[in-house]
Amino acid sequence: VSSFLVTGLSELTTLEESTGVIRDAAVVIEDGRFAWVGRAQDAPAADDAADLGGRAALPGWVDSHSHLVFDGDRSAEFEARMAGREYAAGGIQVTTDATRAADDARLAALLSRRVRAAVAGGTTYLETKTGYGLTVPDEARGAALAAAAVDEVTFLGAHLVPAGSDPEEYTRLVCGDMLAAVAPHARWIDVFCERGAFTPEQSRRVLEAGRAAGLGLRVHGNQLGPGAGVELAVELGAASVDHVNHLTPGDVERLAASGRDAAGTWRPGTETVATVLPACDLSTRAPLAPAKALLEAGATIAIASNCNPGTSYTSSMNFCVATAVLQMGLSLAEAIEAATLGGARALRADRESLAAGTRPRAAGTEAPIGRIAVGHRADLHVLDAPAAIHLAYRPGMPLTHAVWRAGERAA
Ligand code: NIG
Repeated sequence: VSSFLVTGLSELTTLEESTGVIRDAAVVIEDGRFAWVGRAQDAPAADDAADLGGRAALPGWVDSHSHLVFDGDRSAEFEARMAGREYAAGGIQVTTDATRAADDARLAALLSRRVRAAVAGGTTYLETKTGYGLTVPDEARGAALAAAAVDEVTFLGAHLVPAGSDPEEYTRLVCGDMLAAVAPHARWIDVFCERGAFTPEQSRRVLEAGRAAGLGLRVHGNQLGPGAGVELAVELGAASVDHVNHLTPGDVERLAASGRDAAGTWRPGTETVATVLPACDLSTRAPLAPAKALLEAGATIAIASNCNPGTSYTSSMNFCVATAVLQMGLSLAEAIEAATLGGARALRADRESLAAGTRPRAAGTEAPIGRIAVGHRADLHVLDAPAAIHLAYRPGMPLTHAVWRAGERAA
């Protein structure tokens, strides 16, 4: 196994308490993991080396929420929305029709292009969902394609009741034959618990069926209005509830209390992470999710792109982090943590969750993600800037300089 030394890191944000932000830093990568992290002056010798010339670096983004398996165009819907029309879940059917009509090769090529774009923007760990197939074969196809292209696959057959279907019959299909066909390709199950999509009662059935099939739970909740999504997610021990735009004080308390025992002690790997989706909020002109209030209450938050053709057609985590700082009131450190370690926690792939054994279908040998620390997967994002604050200071600028994913140069 050869070792690779990266030097010339003016500022390394490690997300590890003991090391914090290291000035004039270096890392050694070996066998896909970080083998050494510290000050460049103390770095050990390695087989090969690269000098990044005084640039800031941080863990690769962990994008824990995206919908990348799709075909079709919804730009007219977006334009109408910008002219005043409200967003409704029904647009999902338009993408579903186009996705069903695409052949496998076309869908795989579209997906792979989207994954490449995400990685080029500093994303090194990517979750994606099915949910634009909505028949047994189309959902199974979406899941199989996703499993070949990304790190984590989520089954979202419960995205919309497809046109012409009875909601109860369709929910039974999702919990039965569809789940059986998709589960071998997926780690998670998700449900769009919202007016116009699935009721809290249907959502519960979907999640319980997924859990019985060995999948971990995720929920789309409280996006378009107040609702039962957060409550259901916390009650069932979901790893994440995503969107969270419309929260009651009770919802915030529930999220803050999740992952803690009665004495308030943190139980790693058991919390329900509140995943905020800044690009989606802007793109739907929704009230921004209360990320700062959630943090202040003690909840764990993640930032994800929600890249999809309806509500958030961008995979740029740099943009999401800039928006979280500029518009949601997070500090740079809070936003970076939410988009790296927070995403890892939302996928239960952080060190503590792996140690607690709460990751669904864990391989047992996988490297934790979300930090720059010895033993973690070597996912490194180097910026074309001397300090990470440039992400928010120069929003929209091409700041990703280099990306290593599991120890391999990826961009
Ligand atoms: O996360 N909320 C549900 N699903 C997507 C939107 C899907 C679509 O409109 O195509 C989301 O925003």
